Amino acid sequence: MPAEIFLILAAVGGYLLGSIPFGLVLVKLAGLGDIRTVGSGNIGATNVLRTGRKDLALATLVLDSGKAGIAALIFTFAVSPTAGLIAGGAAFLGHCFPLWLGFKGGKGVATFLGVLLAVLWPVGLLVCATWLGMALVFRISSLSALTASAFAPLLALAFGRPDVALLALFLAALLWWRHKENIARLVRGEEPRIGAKKA
Ligand code: G3P
Repeated sequence: MPAEIFLILAAVGGYLLGSIPFGLVLVKLAGLGDIRTVGSGNIGATNVLRTGRKDLALATLVLDSGKAGIAALIFTFAVSPTAGLIAGGAAFLGHCFPLWLGFKGGKGVATFLGVLLAVLWPVGLLVCATWLGMALVFRISSLSALTASAFAPLLALAFGRPDVALLALFLAALLWWRHKENIARLVRGEEPRIGAKKA
């Protein structure tokens, strides 16, 4: 089989895994309705927390990062590191633009972290630590994600992985774009703190 087939499989497999909207599914299964009608309307862990269910928010965070990380790991070990990067990137795209939800998905923070942890774990850990540090100081999820994602390409370069840096740059640019409403609220000083019910 030509090698390109495996790269196409990585893209399709990653996209399909990434497009599972865990936040939406968990909130619905818990009988709490449609997460898209709560808070910011986002399907991610931060917004799931606004339902008041910390357990569901944590599960969303773990499953959203896990689906991207697993996609990247499977194709890294089964095919090649490049296939792993393609699968991880495609999982991020699947989360942000899922077929099942009319291409209206999440903002990509957990999947971004999952991909980095899978393809270059020291950078993944440093980016998670940046998110956590910012969240502890400012208690604003979007600000933490925007800051942490901006460091990722530079950190990947510092670790001698220009391929990961390029992917991180592309994904961080998309992540920033997906946060354009959050950025507008941050500028106006209206972005809610983590755990606040309203967004
Ligand atoms: O994980 C997304 C986060 O950065 C912002 O979420 O719901 O406040 O728009 P939200």
